[in-house]
Amino acid sequence: MAEMRRGRPCGVTYSSRSERLPRLCCCSFQYSKKLSVMGDAKMIKVGVVGYGTIGKRVADAVRKQSDMQLIGVTGNSYSFRMDAAHEKNISIFATEEGKAALEKNGVPVAGTFEQLLDHVDIIVDCTPKKVGKEHKEKYYLPRKLKAVFQGGEKPSIAQVSFTAQCNYNDAINKDYVRVVSCNTTGLNRTLDAVHRAFGVSAVHATMIRRGADPWDIRHGPMNAIVPVLEMPSHHGPDVMTVLKDVPVFTTAVSVSTSLMHVHNIIADLKTEATVQDVLHLFQKTTRVRIVTNDAWIRSTAEIMEYARDLGRDRGDMPEICIWKEGIGIVGHKLFYMQAIHQESNVIPENIDAIRAMMGFTDAKKSIEMTNKSFGMR
Ligand SMILES: NC(=O)c1ccc[n+]([C@@H]2O[C@H](COP(=O)([O-])OP(=O)(O)OC[C@H]3O[C@@H](n4cnc5c(N)ncnc54)[C@H](OP(=O)(O)O)[C@@H]3O)[C@@H](O)[C@H]2O)c1
Repeated sequence: MAEMRRGRPCGVTYSSRSERLPRLCCCSFQYSKKLSVMGDAKMIKVGVVGYGTIGKRVADAVRKQSDMQLIGVTGNSYSFRMDAAHEKNISIFATEEGKAALEKNGVPVAGTFEQLLDHVDIIVDCTPKKVGKEHKEKYYLPRKLKAVFQGGEKPSIAQVSFTAQCNYNDAINKDYVRVVSCNTTGLNRTLDAVHRAFGVSAVHATMIRRGADPWDIRHGPMNAIVPVLEMPSHHGPDVMTVLKDVPVFTTAVSVSTSLMHVHNIIADLKTEATVQDVLHLFQKTTRVRIVTNDAWIRSTAEIMEYARDLGRDRGDMPEICIWKEGIGIVGHKLFYMQAIHQESNVIPENIDAIRAMMGFTDAKKSIEMTNKSFGMR
């Protein structure tokens, strides 16, 4: 893996880098010892900035990869999340905003946000939208530090918008890559497969979006269906940052659920296909799972229960779930319905983005390695 390293601290062990770090003085944290960050020179050293819905999952996923080492995550305030990270022996690097609260609540801090940046080959920035852009300009660009951004950021933040099975090669050796949003990732995975197999001349799709993530007590709606009053919704144009030659027009509504999104998709095919053809295609498409009414999976609630029964971490379902009975063909129009677990489907994409950016050129192998670590195909 040594040839994968490019740019920053390749081949440098953390013990030697740590010795070069300045000791922090009393105006910052009260450190009496050097950073206890050690690294394995053969591993890709990863830092996660933002430890919320996406960041905490990326951190766990990095820890499962045989070629990656999680150096640490940032702490921006005190919460149960920081307690959990500490209990999992994850090193926490405090932002200016978070340091006092972390100290006050007894969370051990390994260093500052900027020290985390000094110890990694690549950052995965999982902060809320627009914060990633600030971080890029203020911290990552001056350090020439590679960074993966999330779908809340605008496409212009990165050289490539990314979904592994669609355009892994475009991200190889890039410095800034944006993993597209959960909805866009879902559309990309299945539309890319359909386009490669049958050709797609146009797509019309409606996103039925969850109102908030399950832990989130601030957002809604509680009792309403809220249309997105822009045409198209941002999802269609976002898909076209990856699937550049597929015209996609989307509309969206938010509904009173926290579990998953559902997409109703109509794709105009360029060649003839039967329902069986499409079913077989999706059955063999990576990171896509067929679910059936026969198995009593009639709703997003049952998909989530299925994920828990599979023993998935946090009850996650990173695959896009397509209902077998929801696939239909009328003339050249293909109809299908898919469910998206918004909290988890982009996590494998972040892992593949890291490998591609660090110079690992075998897309198939990377996807296989990542899939294995998630227990999916
Ligand atoms: N949630 C989803 O369903 C989903 C799906 C796909 C993609 N995304 C995208 O992923 C990104 C993150 O979303 P999320 O849902 O994971 O957000 P989140 O749950 O709100 O987590 C954001 C994290 O960033 C931290 N943070 C905020 N400002 C920071 C700063 N200046 N420096 C360091 N850390 C900071 C927050 O810490 P504090 O809370 O301590 O401030 C929190 O840990 C967004 O671009 C979003 O669009 C989200």
